[in-house]
Amino acid sequence: MLAKGATRSVFRVGRWVIKIPRIYSWGHFLLGLLANLQERKFSRAEWSELCPVVASIPGGWLVVMKYARPLTEKEWKGMNVDQWMHREDYSIPVEPKINSFGVLNGNIVAIDYGS
Ligand SMILES: Nc1ncnc2c1ncn2[C@@H]1O[C@H](COP(=O)(O)OP(=O)(O)OP(=O)(O)O)[C@@H](O)[C@H]1O
Ligand SMILES: [Mg+2]
Repeated sequence: MLAKGATRSVFRVGRWVIKIPRIYSWGHFLLGLLANLQERKFSRAEWSELCPVVASIPGGWLVVMKYARPLTEKEWKGMNVDQWMHREDYSIPVEPKINSFGVLNGNIVAIDYGS
């Protein structure tokens, strides 16, 4: 187990993570399913700013995403989140907090995304 989010449990398997809705309450479980559905959907756009979903089960039961290492404090402080999120033609649907981001192949990516 890598982390317990508010709505999903996250397991690391080598270069990947597996996200599964938590079941401690019905509401959180539904939100976990929705979060997985959103990541599956947004990932299909293949924006380089989004950590890719590489496999998923329809319905939001599970997503497999690439593992992106956490940001250091220094990287987070040096990041202009507003500028990062709001591009000229589009915005990245991510909550501006440190644990929504990771580093994949040297680039900052969103790991928890959806509108
Ligand atoms: N692709 C990833 N690579 C590395 N770690 C990840 C990845 N996705 C999630 N994690 C880890 O798992 C934690 C919880 O994941 P995530 O934020 O997607 O779930 P959540 O249920 O939406 O939780 P939260 O309430 O924190 O938003 C993240 O803060 C991060 O530590
Ligand atoms: Mg989240």
